[in-house]
Amino acid sequence: MTGTPKELTVTAQQGDYKVVIGTGLLQQASSWLTSILNPKTSLMIVYDAKLESLGYVKTLEQSLKKEFVNVYSFAVESGESSKSLQHAARLYSAFLAAGLDRRSAVLALGGGVIGDLAGFAAATFMRGIDFVQIPTTLLAHDASIGGKVAINLPEGKNLVGAFHAPRLVLYDVATLQTLPLYERSSGLAEAIKHGVIYDPELFAYIEEHVEPILLGDSDALTHLLYQSCKVKAKIVSQDERESGIRAFLNFGHTIGHAIEALQYGYYTHGAAVAIGMIYETKIARRLGKIDVEFEDRLRVLLEKAQLPTSLPAEQKSKEAIDALIEHMRRDKKAHSRSLPFILPERLGTVSFEASVDEAVVRQVLAD
Ligand SMILES: NC(=O)c1ccc[n+]([C@@H]2O[C@H](COP(=O)([O-])OP(=O)(O)OC[C@H]3O[C@@H](n4cnc5c(N)ncnc54)[C@H](O)[C@@H]3O)[C@@H](O)[C@H]2O)c1
Ligand SMILES: [Zn+2]
Repeated sequence: MTGTPKELTVTAQQGDYKVVIGTGLLQQASSWLTSILNPKTSLMIVYDAKLESLGYVKTLEQSLKKEFVNVYSFAVESGESSKSLQHAARLYSAFLAAGLDRRSAVLALGGGVIGDLAGFAAATFMRGIDFVQIPTTLLAHDASIGGKVAINLPEGKNLVGAFHAPRLVLYDVATLQTLPLYERSSGLAEAIKHGVIYDPELFAYIEEHVEPILLGDSDALTHLLYQSCKVKAKIVSQDERESGIRAFLNFGHTIGHAIEALQYGYYTHGAAVAIGMIYETKIARRLGKIDVEFEDRLRVLLEKAQLPTSLPAEQKSKEAIDALIEHMRRDKKAHSRSLPFILPERLGTVSFEASVDEAVVRQVLAD
């Protein structure tokens, strides 16, 4: 894509912020940032170490140094294990060594791991400093909007975190060119989810353009990201703290999180969510909420997006299902013999089901 970037605004208590989506935005970063920050602001780029050899870190630094006097950078090793207290502590030390203060800003350059970790460090350093998201994965379109930041504990994912809205989200679609295919599929799962919960047109767009999206076509990616970010932005603008409709974003995630936690490293987040969306749709079918046509349409699209749609036979043993249920129960803090779910009613509409009988969930997982 060439031409003018697309822009959205997210409403947040800490201040509304823009999401800018386009090609070549890393090169233009200084002009976007000077629209929100004083050039005297010290900037700390926290980046995924994998991005250094791809040239993105240098491009961003060069652009920022045109306007900003103090630009620092800090590499974080790639992977979910970097979302830890130890890595956050390393960031605080690096912030102090660089002389960051309350007026400084942290820029997260990378996928959801870097956004969550750097955002958590920015939320807590000196009781919270400015934060800018510069996502480089397709999945991070979901992670970079909404202000949720977190790190993991050995006991589980995202157990320590904060709401810390970014000042800006700068999404350079050109960085997605180097993303491995399976990571594009992973991000696409969240966009498909946004279609299911809120936007039938987005769902239909993905059905028609899944191939160019997976091949990394800039126009298709830009349109997809704009529409999908729009859904996320609308939902979190209405319900920033998840007291209502923000929970709809969890469609596919109750089962997806359990799969991800128990099969650590085997499935990408999006792959686990894809399986979760199909199983949660099956639950909705058993409860008479939705027809088989929807389930088939969703499965066909997920398969086209090169995502899995069922658990392999060896993960359907009684022991494996017990472990999944146990994880969901802990995750949802559900103490009774039932579990809460977000279930589809028709394409574009989901609802909250406070208690689904555990027996129904077991039947679906074993199916
Ligand atoms: N805060 C939220 O609201 C929210 C929402 C969804 C997910 N998340 C979190 O996001 C994380 C997952 O995000 P993710 O899928 O982006 O994972 P990730 O950050 O681990 O990135 C995936 C992989 O892509 C590599 N990579 C990143 N950019 C690249 C590029 N341009 N070219 C080539 N390789 C590149 C990374 O090194 C990594 O190996 C999870 O920790 C999840 O909990 C947070
Ligand atoms: Zn997700």
